Amino acid sequence: MSIAVHTVIACFTIISICCGAPLKPSNTCGYDVCNLGKPDKLNVHIVPHTHDDVGWLKTVDQYYYGARNDIQHAAVQYILDSVIPSLVENSDRRFIYVEIAFFWRWWLQQTEEMRNTVRQLVNEGRLEFISGGWSMNDEGVTHYNSIIDQHSLGAEFLRDQFGQCGRPKLGWQIDPFGHSKQVASLFAHMGFDGLFFGRVDVQDYTERFKAKTMEMIWKGSANLGEDSWLFSGILPRVYEAPPSFCFDVHCQNEPIKDDPQLHDYNVPERVQAFIDAAHSQATGYATNHIINTMGSDFQYENADEWYKNLDKLIKYVNAQQGNGSDVNIFYSTPSCYLYALNKANRTWTTKSDDFFPISFNHHGLWNGYFTSRPALKRYERYSNNILQVTKQLNALSNVTLRHAFFPLSEAMGIAQHHDAVSGTEKQHVADDYAQRLAQGIDSATYVINEAYRKLLPKYNHSLTIPAQFLCQFSNISECLPIERQASFTLTLWNPTIHPVQHIVRVPVTQKYLIRSPTGSTVAADFMSISDQVKKIPGRTSSAQYELVFQAPLPALGFSTYYFESKSSLADNKRTEKSKLDQAHNEACVLQNQYLRVEFDQQGNLKNITNQERNFTVQFSSQGFYWYTSFPGNNSRPEFQASGAYAFRPLTPNPLPVSSSRNITCTYMDQVQTALIVYNQWCSQEVRLYDQANTVEIEWIVGPIPIEDGLGKEIIIRYDTDIRSNQYFYTDANGREVLERKRDYRPSWNYTVYESVGGNYYPVASRIWIKDNQTQMTVLTDRSEGGSSMHDGSIELMVHRRTLHDDSQGVGEPMNETAYGTGLVVRGRHVLILETPQLSASHHRPTAQQLFMSPLYTYALPGISYTDYSNNYRQTWSSLNESLPYNVHLLTFDQLAANVFLIRVEHYFELNEDATYSKSAQIDLDSLFNTLGKIKDLVELTLAGNMPLSEMKRLVWQTNDHQSSNLKLTKSNTLKSTIVSLNPMEIKTFQITIE
Ligand SMILES: *[C@@H]1O[C@H](CO)[C@@H](O)[C@H](O)[C@H]1NC(C)=O
Ligand SMILES: *[C@@H]1O[C@H](CO)[C@@H](O)[C@H](O)[C@H]1NC(C)=O
Ligand SMILES: [Zn+2]
Repeated sequence: MSIAVHTVIACFTIISICCGAPLKPSNTCGYDVCNLGKPDKLNVHIVPHTHDDVGWLKTVDQYYYGARNDIQHAAVQYILDSVIPSLVENSDRRFIYVEIAFFWRWWLQQTEEMRNTVRQLVNEGRLEFISGGWSMNDEGVTHYNSIIDQHSLGAEFLRDQFGQCGRPKLGWQIDPFGHSKQVASLFAHMGFDGLFFGRVDVQDYTERFKAKTMEMIWKGSANLGEDSWLFSGILPRVYEAPPSFCFDVHCQNEPIKDDPQLHDYNVPERVQAFIDAAHSQATGYATNHIINTMGSDFQYENADEWYKNLDKLIKYVNAQQGNGSDVNIFYSTPSCYLYALNKANRTWTTKSDDFFPISFNHHGLWNGYFTSRPALKRYERYSNNILQVTKQLNALSNVTLRHAFFPLSEAMGIAQHHDAVSGTEKQHVADDYAQRLAQGIDSATYVINEAYRKLLPKYNHSLTIPAQFLCQFSNISECLPIERQASFTLTLWNPTIHPVQHIVRVPVTQKYLIRSPTGSTVAADFMSISDQVKKIPGRTSSAQYELVFQAPLPALGFSTYYFESKSSLADNKRTEKSKLDQAHNEACVLQNQYLRVEFDQQGNLKNITNQERNFTVQFSSQGFYWYTSFPGNNSRPEFQASGAYAFRPLTPNPLPVSSSRNITCTYMDQVQTALIVYNQWCSQEVRLYDQANTVEIEWIVGPIPIEDGLGKEIIIRYDTDIRSNQYFYTDANGREVLERKRDYRPSWNYTVYESVGGNYYPVASRIWIKDNQTQMTVLTDRSEGGSSMHDGSIELMVHRRTLHDDSQGVGEPMNETAYGTGLVVRGRHVLILETPQLSASHHRPTAQQLFMSPLYTYALPGISYTDYSNNYRQTWSSLNESLPYNVHLLTFDQLAANVFLIRVEHYFELNEDATYSKSAQIDLDSLFNTLGKIKDLVELTLAGNMPLSEMKRLVWQTNDHQSSNLKLTKSNTLKSTIVSLNPMEIKTFQITIE
């Protein structure tokens, strides 16, 4: 475990103690040492860089070592091995490094001498960490919780090893396939001064280049105002060098041949070509500074080749200034380029929308990845759920085992990479990501057990506790270890700071009597598991039933339910009449206190009535459709195929997956269901739980048939009479919501080439449509692509199987298989039908509970209920007062004994709800109720690597005469433990307790 845990302030001293050799003072890094060029010249910032994917065509470790070079020649260890001596050789040279997952791997293997050399380079600003996340996270399908975590993980490493000079100052998202406002806002709150990226829509690029608006002030959040603004720049060639100026060992460009006595002397033409390229690039940019990214994927394995040629290029290009050339070139970094723009003393245009979806040609958009690899997307979200619970349990039980679940933090950091959760990697790499998450979950399970060892026993803390285990196949209604057991326990940890009413589903082989934490018998439905679930490939369970019941769970705490086999009970004679009422292929109605859901006898959803608000939404259709994937050879934009990155349908109208369907309605006490089977590979179960004001739709899709030679992209569509008038709404990274309009882009004059694909947006957690009376919100359990192709309609792409590569590099079709057949995926949508005014108060907490749902751990104590309840606590909450409904505890991490990292957030937007959109107060002391009193409290930047009081961001002026500096007067060190949160505000604290 190399990531040492220090307090923010102490870490710098620890570094100088730990490193033996005294370091030069660290004030030679940062903006002050930037070369700002010459005011009367065109200044070209030469930025040597490598783009190291944390897995893509090869796994992260294959890339690190340079294994499987037959797939792609790439070896990160040699890049760092090679760059460091090149930097030492010439103090003018610069290099930036971005992906900490790789740097950390390399750092572990270095001698102290090498580490000191690197520290010196960092302290002198010659090697600079940029962005500094564990990976360069995707922006479309990631969740904000995990973006923050993965940046914090990298930032913590850099802070502990390099101190102030290692702190990344800007975002560097040069490869992700679209850019999110939420990410811009998060980056601003991490203290970044700017952001550079490589990919925007080709139409947008063309207009911006013409208008010289490639660089702008991005207003990241309407809720948070100036604090969320981020200077953002689009790089000229994604992240490549100017044509013919790639001097990497992988490139074939002409070196600078500068000895006139040798054959092929080429300095004059190379210099002229460079000067021409600089002038041509400058036509699209606003100032007399431009950036040249000199590098690309996995470049600099032989750094000397690059640097030797760049040294010469700089020398000879600048020599032309004597002959009147206006081009001035020099080694630089993105932060020095940013600083030069800041010093340009000019105003910038602003942007308030986002960069989604974006096209790479007229017929190819980066929109298929919103759905690609739906199982990996869900697994990543589920892993985050476990990670957050593990952090809480580790902290609240004070077992100080943070290092022990580092493998899960690391795996999650890697999973955020733009070819990981995005689904755009090769199959064997996707398998590696899943394996890392699985091993991470194993490490977390150990910590969960250690924590419960302290929390469960009532009196005797040396009492052994029965091993707690996860049933990770619950998503296919399988939990082998509890099958046929006479008794078992289920402990549910609620990671939210509010009590929740949770619906529990436990797959079982037989009936059980369930005892609640207070000993009372729990009313549970004994439901048959459908054939559609039982036939999911790979399911080996003999469980035929699921026990379904409602569990009220305490805030930030647990409840344990004890299951006792009915046959093992003395009173098993008492026959229990399971109230089973079924209807096949008849019109049926699911109804509870709030909602009424009606189906016709053909299995069509006809309408849903909100009885409380007294309105009915009529459905003209609801169910599964497919788009045929475009089967092109990519030789021209018109022949663009649908693949891992790109979704392109052959025709704009999706076909229903079947012409008829079967419906079976089952009415029980806790839940009423309509199982609708469309065909062999598409089904959904519509569920209405007692007392619930949401409708749950659990879908199963796959194996998607491809015997007809056609790729298929499966959507679930909800067609209603809501008059949505072209508008729909999708979230950014599970948080703030953006308005979308069909066939429209807010910031440029949009020409439609792809009528369907151009309207697909990432849906990380929710999508809705509305009119004056009604809003229909659909919540998802993972990221999916979504749209509204017709008024009143919402569609979400849940699964896809394509047979052609889309030529964006992965070199494989998006054709997932498992158990010898096409992959089967099961997932959930939650439907909320409300008035627009009251919708947020439903979808905000419901979505929060979907992504932070209770953690199920089972155990086989092998003792009677009486013995169990005598020895073990069956319910416990770490809170003793109720906390504001609109506040979410985002992070509860223990850094060291008595030192904690806390993030609290307001999770409503401005003006979303009459009550909950007001600002909220929370007393942080209440979170430490069971741990102790708060002794010290330091507010940190969002990534947790710097006191907020030390954050000084560069100030920018917009062309509408606003300054990004308006709100910089904030109180940083809080005198009291009471924190005030405005809508969508996240605050991060390091807390020391007595
Ligand atoms: C910046 O520009 C403004 C006018 O646009 C001018 O008043 C000011 O002096 C300039 N500042 C510097 C440092 O050049
Ligand atoms: C946590 O445990 C450490 C010893 O490992 C102890 O010094 C500290 O006081 C404990 N803190 C709490 C809040 O129990
Ligand atoms: Zn990449």
